[in-house]
Amino acid sequence: MKAIPYGRQNIDQKDIDAVVTTLQADFLTQGPKVNEFEEKFAAYVGSKYAVAVNNATSGLHISVLALNLKEGDRVITTSITFAASANCIRYAGGEVWFADIDPDTYLLSIESVRKLIESKPKSFFKGIIPVDFAGLPVNLEEFRVLADKHDLWIIEDACHAPGGNFKDVNGTENRCGNGAFADIGVFSFHPVKHIACGEGGMVTTNSEVVYKKLSLLRSHGITKENMSENHGGWFYEMQELGFNYRLTDIQSALGITQLAKNDLGVIRRNEISTRYKEAFKNNIKFQALPEGTYNAHHLFVIEVRDRKGLYDFLRSHNIFAQIHYIPVHTLPYYKKNGYGSTDLSNAENYYNNCISLPMYPTLTKEEQEFVIEKVLEFIDD
Ligand SMILES: Cc1ncc(COP(=O)(O)O)c(C=O)c1O
Repeated sequence: MKAIPYGRQNIDQKDIDAVVTTLQADFLTQGPKVNEFEEKFAAYVGSKYAVAVNNATSGLHISVLALNLKEGDRVITTSITFAASANCIRYAGGEVWFADIDPDTYLLSIESVRKLIESKPKSFFKGIIPVDFAGLPVNLEEFRVLADKHDLWIIEDACHAPGGNFKDVNGTENRCGNGAFADIGVFSFHPVKHIACGEGGMVTTNSEVVYKKLSLLRSHGITKENMSENHGGWFYEMQELGFNYRLTDIQSALGITQLAKNDLGVIRRNEISTRYKEAFKNNIKFQALPEGTYNAHHLFVIEVRDRKGLYDFLRSHNIFAQIHYIPVHTLPYYKKNGYGSTDLSNAENYYNNCISLPMYPTLTKEEQEFVIEKVLEFIDD
C-alpha cells in the first residue's frame, strides 16, 4: 500500500488549465481573477462581501484590525486550533484568553466562554474567535446572543469548513462564513484544506464598513478612493498602515476551479465519515454531530487511550495520521506569557487521546478499508 496522508489536495486537468490560461494572460496579480474568485466565493457561502488574501493567517490579522482591536484588548478563543487563530490577537498587541472545549464536539464551549466572561468585570473582553474545528460548524446563533449581551464582536475561523452549515432556530441553513451571526469569517486555501491555492485565504463579511477596511489593509492601506487631494491619474493615498496580503491571479484562477467542485468534495468527505463511524461505532469515540449541523469534514478525529501507540503503528503501515492540535495554551510562547489561566481540562484530555485519520475526497475505498483494518487491529490487541 502506498503512503496514505491525513489530507491531500485534489488537482485535476481543469485546475491545471485554469492556471496555465492565467499565466498566458495580461495579469498575474491584481487582475480579473481575484475579483471573480471573491464574487464566486461570497455567493457560495452567502455573504455580501469577500476579500481574497495570501493566506488565512493574514486574513485573521486584518480581521482583528478591521474590528479595531487595540493593544491590551482581550479576546477569547479555543486552545484546540492551529496557533494562527490566537496569534492574530497577539499581532495587534491583544491578550489571548482561552476557554475550554466541549468534550464531545471539540468546539469552543459556549458555557466555558460564558463562565469566563461572567467572572470578569463588564467590558473586559472585546471579541470571540470560535473555530469550526475539523469542519464542524459552531452554532454562531448562540454565540451571537452571548456576544450581543456583552458587546463583543465575533470572528468565525472557518478555515476547516467551507461548505459546512448549521440550522438556526428558524430552520434556515447557515453556511459557514455567511456572516449572519459572525462579523467576519476567515477561510484558508492551504493544500490540506478543501480548496487548494498553494497558499491563500478569504475573508467574508456582511458589513460594508468592515469590507472597506479589510480591502485597504490587504493592500498597504493604499487607495484611490475618498482621497483628501488628487494630483492626477497616477495619484493615490496611503490612508492606513496596511500590508501586502494580496492573493495573485494565478492562485485565484486555481481557487475558482477548486471552489466549483467543493460541494462534491464535501459530499465525498461525508461518505468517508459515514463509513468510519459505522466501523468504529461500538468501541471508538469520534467527534459528535449536533442535530441540524452539516460537517464539512476537513478532519476525521477519533479518541483512543494509547494515541502515541496508534500513531506509531499506523506510520509503520504507511498511514500518516496526524494530531490536531497540540493545545495552543501549552505551546512555549503562550505558556511563558502566562495565558490559559482558565480550566482547560477538556482541551488537555482531548489532546492526550486525539488522532486524525486520513480524510480527503480522493481517498479510495480500498485505502479507507485498509486504515479501518489497521485501527481496529491496534485497538483489539
Ligand atoms: C483553524 C485554522 N486557522 C487558521 C489557519 C491558518 O491558515 P493559513 O495556513 O492559510 O495561514 C489554519 C491553517 O492550518 C487553521 O487550521
